[in-house]
Amino acid sequence: MKNDILEILITENELKGKIKELGEIITKDYKGKDIMLIGVLKGCVLFLSDLAREIKLPLSMDFMVVSSYGTSTKSSGVVRIIKDLEKDITGKDILIVEDIVDTGLTLNYLVDYLKSRNASSVKVCTLLEKPDRRIANVKMDYVGFHIPDKFVVGYGLDYNEIYRNLPFVCVLKPEIYSN
Ligand code: IMP
Ligand code: MG
Repeated sequence: MKNDILEILITENELKGKIKELGEIITKDYKGKDIMLIGVLKGCVLFLSDLAREIKLPLSMDFMVVSSYGTSTKSSGVVRIIKDLEKDITGKDILIVEDIVDTGLTLNYLVDYLKSRNASSVKVCTLLEKPDRRIANVKMDYVGFHIPDKFVVGYGLDYNEIYRNLPFVCVLKPEIYSN
């Protein structure tokens, strides 16, 4: 995998520091609340597991799998739920944990969906966001890093399902993406 990397955008240390910071803020904001992390698989797995350890509150977790209708490059904004929540979320303070917000269409759909299920509150925590690509006007309450419009992998993010286990966020060489 090392030979495929063009540039590291966010190092392991930078990730660690930022996640600690996010955890501290979330711990303060959710004190006394019934916090439930909802991870959107599979991109969230590394981020969620590190973030959860920095939130010093009792919390529960659940996971969803969603898939966007449309072509690989053009999201339609209509999202299909492949794996739904296991339990009722009525009265819960939901924090959606995402790897990256790109167009925002997926997240926009998820927030509306979770609100319609009578959660007490629905907020969003995303590790990365690409401001240049936004289509849907979706509110992000906690953002790790704002990144340029480049396709990134690592720390949960994949290209063709590979590279999720890289401990940093990076850009691959152009020849990898064109293969
Ligand atoms: P959107 O915000 O609805 O456009 O879609 C966001 C989803 O697209 C993310 O959850 C990722 O799965 C995927 N995605 C967007 N940008 C990237 C990237 O740079 N690398 C890897 N996956 C990405
Ligand atoms: Mg994702």
